[in-house]
Amino acid sequence: MSGNHFQDLLAIQLKRRKVLQMGLGGLMAAVMPMSLRAANVLAHHSALLGFKPIPTADLLDEVVVPDGYHAEVFYRWGDPISDGPAFNMDASNNAADQLQQAGMHHDAIQYFPLPKGSNNSDHGLLVMNHEYLDLDIIHPDGSHNISPETYNADKVAKEQNAHGVSLIEVINRDGQWQIVRPSNYARRLTANTEMQISGPAAGHGLLKTSADPEGKKVLGTFNNCANGKTPWGTYLTCEENFYYYFAGSKQPEDTATDHHRQRYKLGFSYYGWQQFDKRFDLDAEPNEPNRFGWVVEFDPYDPQSMPVKRTALGRFAHENVAHKVSQDGRVAFYSGDDSKFEYIYKFITRASWDGTLGAQHGQLLDDGILHVARFESDGSARWLPLVFGDNGLTPENGFADQGEVLIHARAAADIVGATKMDRPEWITVHPESGEVFVSLTNNSERGTDGKAAKDAANPRNQNSFGHIIKFSETDATATEFNWQVFVLGGEGEGEKFACPDGLHIDDRGVLWIQTDVSSSVMNDGPFKAFGNNQMLAADPATGEIRRFLTGPVGCEVTGVIMTPDMKTMWANIQHPGEMPSVLEDRGIKKSPANPNAASNWPDHLPNGRPRSATVLITRNDGGVIGT
Ligand code: FEO
Ligand code: CA
Ligand code: CA
Repeated sequence: MSGNHFQDLLAIQLKRRKVLQMGLGGLMAAVMPMSLRAANVLAHHSALLGFKPIPTADLLDEVVVPDGYHAEVFYRWGDPISDGPAFNMDASNNAADQLQQAGMHHDAIQYFPLPKGSNNSDHGLLVMNHEYLDLDIIHPDGSHNISPETYNADKVAKEQNAHGVSLIEVINRDGQWQIVRPSNYARRLTANTEMQISGPAAGHGLLKTSADPEGKKVLGTFNNCANGKTPWGTYLTCEENFYYYFAGSKQPEDTATDHHRQRYKLGFSYYGWQQFDKRFDLDAEPNEPNRFGWVVEFDPYDPQSMPVKRTALGRFAHENVAHKVSQDGRVAFYSGDDSKFEYIYKFITRASWDGTLGAQHGQLLDDGILHVARFESDGSARWLPLVFGDNGLTPENGFADQGEVLIHARAAADIVGATKMDRPEWITVHPESGEVFVSLTNNSERGTDGKAAKDAANPRNQNSFGHIIKFSETDATATEFNWQVFVLGGEGEGEKFACPDGLHIDDRGVLWIQTDVSSSVMNDGPFKAFGNNQMLAADPATGEIRRFLTGPVGCEVTGVIMTPDMKTMWANIQHPGEMPSVLEDRGIKKSPANPNAASNWPDHLPNGRPRSATVLITRNDGGVIGT
């Protein structure tokens, strides 16, 4: 029964996709003024992708790209950001060293041309997130859970410094890209960098702590997953699984009376920071976690700029943030909450952006309306506003003011009736059509144990392969939109993949899809067909998908950006050497003494350890990537 229903649904979706494609093409040809570039894209759909797809990688410990392309390791965990200390392969660098080196677990990445305001493709700033840590390999003898007897404040500080953001200056000299050392721009943001809190929740009682009685200054950012850029030229970093950094005497399951703690899964820490840094102790500082889970803005061109947590965009496990500028200059920012059965949000600025560059426009992010998506089975959807006093967001339901609506955005979204999604990851906006693509990476709990069953926008129970949906809106400020499934993981036109995560549409309109199959299942059983995690290129118009890159053992591929001329690409390889269960089942064991048991990428030295890294990709003939 459910199988038939699913097939019917799929047929409807495919039919709808065809109709919408034809409709959109016709509409654009008839009414839209288009650049020559866009006209070419539409006239030659099949020419959008020009490379020969590569096969899947079955536990191959390398990065592979298509014939005619070159990939080289560019910036690894521990590489100095400027003229700081070199990486010690035994992981013996201390906290002070780590502060001047690339963090661990590279995630999303952006390129900012130099000089500011230019379109230079040979000199710029690369800014990227360092999401989390591999506790086996961050120290010579492992972290708190492996060597508790040697865990100390310096290890905590090193772990905090391996998080956050790094910014490096890069230049192409005679065809060779290199990191500029020393650089006046180079900087690190870590879990201890001072930041300002702004927007409607700034100064709220729930944000006050013993160290910050005003509730307006916070130390640091962490679990920076993906990112975004503002149209005015600043960087946005997103705080995702912030709750796994705080521990107290109560476990998440013991907090049934504390709805908000439960809603944000607070109580279990993956780290041991609370042992030596009391602000991570929930009993001592119950409000500290309210100061994380935000979108943070900073100006990469000003090395002294203080990052700002923009509370108007809501507090949840922000994956990334993508923007679209309205015809009247107001700006929409889209962001998914990556957790099972969580929501997709859109913030719309109240004021319009005047089109000029400059960090002063950041104030636009402090005033506007946050919305959350509700999907209907007929392909329509609405953006529901999260405004104090409206739609049940009242004191009777536990909201004292707008600050509380934003701090407890998940609970607010529950009340207005948003649609529970299969882990919303990245969102990206098509530069010409304005279509919005969202990856729903997977949700094995869909339809199990009384949890929400499949619906039109999340069409598979026990959804292990994930899917990508796309929205069409008349304008960035629209409060209604139409949507359809773009591709279901494991299916689609061309090369197959599962668990889509990173999404990026480049200026030609190619949709780059990066995957994050969990190491608990990768290269095994039904996931064997997809091989190591990978990056694919899709033609949004035809749905054709080609495999462009495969990563080394145990990694996920996350974060990709190109120079404006699209001749240089950087892609991030995160957590190589995270142990796939399929290798563990063969008796292979990773430990601080055997750090490269699963992967020895990228250095492949006898005493090596796996290191997350940025990979530089070019075409041998110097051409545009992907064509
Ligand atoms: Fe950090 Fe949802 O990926
Ligand atoms: Ca991700
Ligand atoms: Ca993921």
